[in-house]
Amino acid sequence: MIDQGTIGRILDSAEIVDVVSDFINLRKRGVNYLGLCPFHNEKTPSFTVSPAKGIYKCFGCGKGGNSVNFIMEHENLKYPEALKWLAKKYSIEVVEKEESQEDKQLKDDRESMMIVSSFAQKYFTRYLWDENEGRIVGLSYFRERGLRDDTIKKFELGFSPEGKSVFTDAAQKEGYRIEFLEKTGLTIKRDNWVRDRFAGRVMFPIHNLAGRVIAFGGRILKDDPKAAKYLNSPESEIYHKSNVLYGIFQAKRELTRADKCYLVEGYTDVLSMHQSGIENVVASSGTALTSDQVRLVKRFTQNITIIYDGDEAGIKASLRGIDLVLEEGMNVKVLLLPKGEDPDSFARSHSASEYKEYIKKNEKDFIRFKTKLLLESTENDPVAKARLISEVIRSVSVIPDTITRSVYIRECSKLLKVDEEVLYAEVRKNKRNKNEVLRKREALVKTNKNRATPQPVIPEIKKEGLVIEEKEVLRFLLKYCKYPLFELEKEELDEPEVVLVGDFIVDEIQGDEMVSESQVFTQIMNETKELLPNPDFNPLKYFVNHSSGEISKVASELLLEKFIESKRWKRAGAYTEKEEDILDLLVPKIVYEYKLRKVKQILHELEEKINTVYRGKDYDQVFELQSTYMNMKKVERFLSDKLGNRAFI
Ligand code: CTP
Ligand code: MN
Repeated sequence: MIDQGTIGRILDSAEIVDVVSDFINLRKRGVNYLGLCPFHNEKTPSFTVSPAKGIYKCFGCGKGGNSVNFIMEHENLKYPEALKWLAKKYSIEVVEKEESQEDKQLKDDRESMMIVSSFAQKYFTRYLWDENEGRIVGLSYFRERGLRDDTIKKFELGFSPEGKSVFTDAAQKEGYRIEFLEKTGLTIKRDNWVRDRFAGRVMFPIHNLAGRVIAFGGRILKDDPKAAKYLNSPESEIYHKSNVLYGIFQAKRELTRADKCYLVEGYTDVLSMHQSGIENVVASSGTALTSDQVRLVKRFTQNITIIYDGDEAGIKASLRGIDLVLEEGMNVKVLLLPKGEDPDSFARSHSASEYKEYIKKNEKDFIRFKTKLLLESTENDPVAKARLISEVIRSVSVIPDTITRSVYIRECSKLLKVDEEVLYAEVRKNKRNKNEVLRKREALVKTNKNRATPQPVIPEIKKEGLVIEEKEVLRFLLKYCKYPLFELEKEELDEPEVVLVGDFIVDEIQGDEMVSESQVFTQIMNETKELLPNPDFNPLKYFVNHSSGEISKVASELLLEKFIESKRWKRAGAYTEKEEDILDLLVPKIVYEYKLRKVKQILHELEEKINTVYRGKDYDQVFELQSTYMNMKKVERFLSDKLGNRAFI
């Protein structure tokens, strides 16, 4: 328990603008401040902070409260933890009664994992500085690499002792439970042994935005081609690789101040650049950049410069990154370093001002970068040039904002010496193609499905209520049945054919014979299909007033389930808050989610069937079922990819 006096001091110090500014770029608007809301996706700021009232309020999603509420919400902390977080920020001593063993156990898993990670970081850091082994092996390694002590301390680097379980033993002795050591991946545990994951490695703790340690990277010191150079913490409840950026905590203030972010690949790149005075830098840590990571940066600045090695892999990675950043509506530049250099080596061989000068001179707008790169390889080949144009235009097409897009088209037209109109036509084609790709992929699912012809064992009795995916499909069907979804370009027609939401859903679900176990679901689907061509058919009215009491009940309930709506667009990562504006994004997603659930169920049933048949030694049938199974697996993978299944914090 934190005592009342401490709470009072914390509340007095935690000035709302100061607290919020740690995470969001705020601009002054009259007496208030305005920024992009961190709790939902938005393009125009509706997140307002009132220093006079000491509160924040988002007019987009409705979230609001004082400094403590903000930290609770933003960092996913409970009340006392949020208070402690603020106490730390303002160097206020927290007076509280000693934590009992019971209290320790009561904290939820996430919190326990954070606590274990924090302990580990402190242990590794102490080991690096205070133990002989740490100093001789670890510290001297960092120093030889040219890292200064203040950099090593700032990033809380450490050393994990050599040996089987030196760290794990120490942690357990301090009362940390093996369950959480294992869940964070610090310890690897099997039936009859445990060992330290990172033994003998130098340690790079990975911090979240609030500066808490959530994972580690550990570098091996020996040159051993058989062992991985870096080992990283596994995915866990507190560490989702795809939405974490290394160095974001140390960079965030400078990101806002400089209004620019440098994106590099590795831990050492971040460290060396910091050391040379460039602090607005984060790393994707060796994995391909994700849109969640880009959005993390977007909270602080709209401008990203990608700095990758000048080798082939680096160029490829930069090209992939460009489109992702553009899709988020941000500005992207690219800086290639001289061949053989990476951001780390370059920072070590150049002074900060030389580095900054080099960046200024050499960073290129993505259009120039991509064009120059591709021009080099096409020379005087007209076919190659055409391909080049469509490559560059593909990037332009993903920019969400029309005005920005037109600026780039003008630029592109000059660089490539192609008429602007031609480029506009190309952009339009790309946008249509995107929809068509969607259809084609879908057709593929169908063929796979037909080839597979699995016969799922569907229970006769349909007692179960609707699952969430079914509810969503039905809600969209009822609410938006007659809304246009997208246009299909038809060669024989001048006008593109408009596909309605209802057409799409009914086609997809019935075409794939993705039958539901629910009678209500199936019946609504069937009747919609039949009545859809009728211009007077109003699905909402029709089903709410249906003669079957069951259907009428479901239909009215669905229309009341508002909560799903907000969760839905948040997950889709859309800019807009109105679902009817992004039906082309939502409807396929919802249908895929429904299908994925079905596919998973079919897979499960197949597994059981294979087991039974196998026991009966009917190997021919095992073989057959297995090939069906493999096909279904493909469908599953396709759907998961399509849905971009990624965990959200
Ligand atoms: N990486 C990884 N696992 C590996 C190799 C690399 O996770 N086996 C990640 C690390 O985050 C690393 C980044 O990819 O920082 C870039 O890899 P690389 O350029 O090979 O490493 P450097 O950061 O340059 O490390 P060093 O200079 O210590 O070799
Ligand atoms: Mn390196």
